[in-house]
Amino acid sequence: MRLDKFLCDCGVGTRSRLKKDIRSGLVTVNGVLTTQADRQIDEINDRICYNGRPCSYEKYIYYLMYKPTGVVSATEDKREKTVLDLMGDDARDDLFPVGRLDKDAEGLMLITNDGALAHELLSPAKHVEKEYECRLAYPLTDEQKARLEQGVDIGEKEPTRPAGVRRAGDRTIRLTITEGKFHQVKRMLSAVGNEVIYLKRVRMGGLVLDEGLAKGSYRRLTEREMERIRV
Ligand code: URA
Repeated sequence: MRLDKFLCDCGVGTRSRLKKDIRSGLVTVNGVLTTQADRQIDEINDRICYNGRPCSYEKYIYYLMYKPTGVVSATEDKREKTVLDLMGDDARDDLFPVGRLDKDAEGLMLITNDGALAHELLSPAKHVEKEYECRLAYPLTDEQKARLEQGVDIGEKEPTRPAGVRRAGDRTIRLTITEGKFHQVKRMLSAVGNEVIYLKRVRMGGLVLDEGLAKGSYRRLTEREMERIRV
């Protein structure tokens, strides 16, 4: 594996920063300073130190991204730009986004290589909450609110599970659902006679969107976020 990729996978920095750090002499391989970012290393047997500290390969890695509109939440797509394309060189080959978010929707996207965690978060049996900010075409009526709270027919076998609805403005609501059917939020609002014109995911279980992140950017989850995301 390339030295800069190994260090990136260890979580010590982004690929571009690490390339610079290697060139400036911050990295040793088996005690010998190296300035060659593309040098091949043996990730099991070589001893790599960054800034004097030994690095070990991380099996699982977790990123929180502020997905912008205009990109698709897939690992690859022939025509469209994906959330992983936004990560460029930082994207390990085994990363994938957890749960779909439409191309025209934005907000919280968890990106990881931890399949077991993804399964826990997405399993219909676990009822993990997903909270969305929705701007609507029309003010939500009391009747529409009550129907969403009760569960609505969106053409599936069963009506949707009861949702949490909070008014957040004239035509803005916070909708919390515990399922993840295709286009679920848009279909729910359409089923009650309204329409979603803007959709942002703001929470998934205990993981909250970091509004301080620029759209399209991402960062590693903090220790505290790691604890909160476990179901
Ligand atoms: N519901 C939708 O309609 N779209 C999404 O992207 C997520 C939930």
